[in-house]
Amino acid sequence: MPIQDRRQTQPEGEIAPAKPRVAVSERGSDMNMRFEDHLPSVHSILRAGNPRLELDQHPMKAQRLVDTARMLVAGDKGLLAMDESNPTCDKRFAKLGIPQTVEARRAYRELIITTPGLGECISGAILCDETIRQQKKDGTPFIKVIIDAGIIPGIKVDAGAKDMAAHPGEKITEGLDGLRERLASYSHMGARFAKWRAVIALGDGIPSRGCIEANAQALARYAALCQEGGLVPVVEPEVLMDGEHTLKRCCEVTEEALRTVFSQLYVQRVMLGGMILKPNMVLPGLNCPKQETVDEVADATVRCLLRAVPAAVPGIAFLSGGQSGELASARLNAMNVRFKSRLPWAVAFSFARAIQQPALEIWRGEESHVGAAQQALYHRAKCNAAARRGTYDVAMDADRQTRA
Ligand code: G3H
Repeated sequence: MPIQDRRQTQPEGEIAPAKPRVAVSERGSDMNMRFEDHLPSVHSILRAGNPRLELDQHPMKAQRLVDTARMLVAGDKGLLAMDESNPTCDKRFAKLGIPQTVEARRAYRELIITTPGLGECISGAILCDETIRQQKKDGTPFIKVIIDAGIIPGIKVDAGAKDMAAHPGEKITEGLDGLRERLASYSHMGARFAKWRAVIALGDGIPSRGCIEANAQALARYAALCQEGGLVPVVEPEVLMDGEHTLKRCCEVTEEALRTVFSQLYVQRVMLGGMILKPNMVLPGLNCPKQETVDEVADATVRCLLRAVPAAVPGIAFLSGGQSGELASARLNAMNVRFKSRLPWAVAFSFARAIQQPALEIWRGEESHVGAAQQALYHRAKCNAAARRGTYDVAMDADRQTRA
């Protein structure tokens, strides 16, 4: 049976227990025994390695996580990351002369979630703590607007990447303290999934083993807490694009980071069928003199992921990391054109800048620009849905620019 068919009939939360062992005489004869009757049950193996595995004892909860994770990467939709922290959002506003206020951030997020047709291309929206508590100008809670648009609400729960002690130039993401309680309160508000981002910088002598391991462990502890609280963890280890490194170097570091993350996810008993991986694409550094073609990037990225990401993960939703909207769509498209039918996981998107940037540049804080900004946002979301199908063409962007 092909891998995907097997996953559909036997999700992780619903593994049928093996039949009880009975004496040969009760079965008739050895001739009637199947090969699998001689094997220990899957459950006994899981329990041996994972005593008191909480999700193993709550198949309904596990099934809900599996269902949500699959919904997030179903069809040709993807995630919209609109979870910029207040300082990051303010920095982007400042560049465009937009006031850096709570009201401006609220108005911008209202523009995004009320974009007509957004739910056609977006399966889930990642909010931040400020946004999940906000309302439209008419008082409708953002969470309701999102759900009514057919989009699953999610929440960023890390507390940001901070300088890592004894590791100059490297960061460790914080936010585990009190996370169980925060997850419970976000779940109560309606969030169904969560996100945690770790950053790994490349440079002279970095990344260090210490940075990769500490971040991988934090990601795994976050993911286990999410699943315990009924939220699907979006696990984001981002190898940054900044620097002069080659595509080959990015590939080596990405593979190392992903292998370490999955090793930690196993140690922390995270159910792979109930999570989403949000990695970087494998790219040359922004200042590397050699910039590979779209197809070369697609090949390197898929090869790297095949070596490091288990088939039980339902979906990979890439971050854009500072690529232009057009390039991010083209590279995602190339991966789906060249490999889609042969991959164990869905290859989707979870972009922030690569969907939002053109809309933000049109809006610039002006009420009269809202409609045009929403059209630009919808256009980028549509381009990425096309990239998931493998039908994106740069002409889609050229045509729009000509019309504008
Ligand atoms: O954590 C980062 C965001 O979720 C993705 O943002 O697509 O602009 O890299 P980006």
